Amino acid sequence: LSDILLVLLGGYFCGSIPFGLILAKLGGAGDVRSIGSGNIGATNVLRTGRKGLAAATLLCDILKGTAAVLIFGYFFGRDGGIFAGLGAFLGHLFPVWLNFKGGKGVATYIGVLLGLSWMALIAYAVVWFAVAAATRFSSLAALIACAVTPLVLWWLGLPREAVMFAVMTVLVFIMHRANIQRLLSGTESKIGQKA
Ligand code: G3P
Repeated sequence: LSDILLVLLGGYFCGSIPFGLILAKLGGAGDVRSIGSGNIGATNVLRTGRKGLAAATLLCDILKGTAAVLIFGYFFGRDGGIFAGLGAFLGHLFPVWLNFKGGKGVATYIGVLLGLSWMALIAYAVVWFAVAAATRFSSLAALIACAVTPLVLWWLGLPREAVMFAVMTVLVFIMHRANIQRLLSGTESKIGQKA
């Protein structure tokens, strides 16, 4: 049990680094929490008009999830990697540094997936790009891709991963409740659109 707690905590600290906030500030784009959706993720950094900063945010928020899985997986085995990934995801959502008000988890979810199953990640990417191309909604693309991911993992013969991602998907939906309301009322902003 103490090993599980250790990897959860280790993953949590990897995931709790708010790259969107840090990179936008360092890049002179201001505090992303006061623009657009107020979120600290890449989609909202893109609303500052700074594509490079948005890409860097996406990459760093992905890789912190992957790093947590791979580093703790190396020392604690497959299950260690799984719990570290969950920790990183929770760290991104609820960072102690920002009064537990973090991001919506999509990039870190993708990073954890990359660390655990590149095949499931390809399925995720195909669904994400198909929905994004058809609708231009980043949130909707992520929600549908996240809904499919646990099923894909199960189908790939990874039941423990499937259960953990099912939990993470529920959290992604909860974090997107304002987006879901905007999607339903037709007021969600499209990718790259300055809100
Ligand atoms: O899935 C993308 C999501 O995080 C949307 O971000 O800034 O539009 O709320 P935002």
